[in-house]
Amino acid sequence: MKALVVYESMFGNTADVARSVADGLAGAFEVTVADVRDRPSPAGVDLLVVGAPTHAFGLSRPATRADAAQQGEVREGAQELGIRELLDGSARLAGTPVAAFDTKVNKAYVPGSAARKALRLLRGLGGRAVLPAESFRVTGMTGPLVAGELDRARQWGQTLAASALAARQHV
Ligand SMILES: Cc1cc2nc3c(=O)[nH]c(=O)nc-3n(C[C@H](O)[C@H](O)[C@H](O)COP(=O)(O)O)c2cc1C
Repeated sequence: MKALVVYESMFGNTADVARSVADGLAGAFEVTVADVRDRPSPAGVDLLVVGAPTHAFGLSRPATRADAAQQGEVREGAQELGIRELLDGSARLAGTPVAAFDTKVNKAYVPGSAARKALRLLRGLGGRAVLPAESFRVTGMTGPLVAGELDRARQWGQTLAASALAARQHV
């Protein structure tokens, strides 16, 4: 059973969450973690998970990634490609189990979520959502993550693995 976790990350927080989600999946899946800029292919995977930072209430665009680069030091190549563009150019997913997470600032009443948008795109491609979109919180624009979020990400990965396996048995 193979899982692919694809992340986009300007400042590294979503990348850290992706690795913790992968840790959580690792008991049940052979997991590959990939940066979106490497354009990983979901062909042949049993579970596709995408993660992205929330930008302007949704998934990043080239302009918001350029904005991010004005706010702090961004990871090499991070401006090149986002999850939105990867999914826009993706082949159909034909029933592949999918899930999405994001990072967003730790404030009440901040609307919008990159993960919700990503899950809509994944469903539009024919993916079958295993869990609702999930958000992990950062303390400010460039991070760091709120204490405990990496543990919560690992637990979410475990729950995701269990849900994906249970859904398989009911097909
Ligand atoms: C241009 C820009 C727009 C942003 N818009 C939002 C937003 O609408 N809602 C939110 O909660 N956080 C917003 N943020 C904060 C990001 O979610 C935060 O930078 C991100 O979670 C950090 O993850 P990363 O280190 O993986 O890039 C924005 C950040 C940038 C740079």
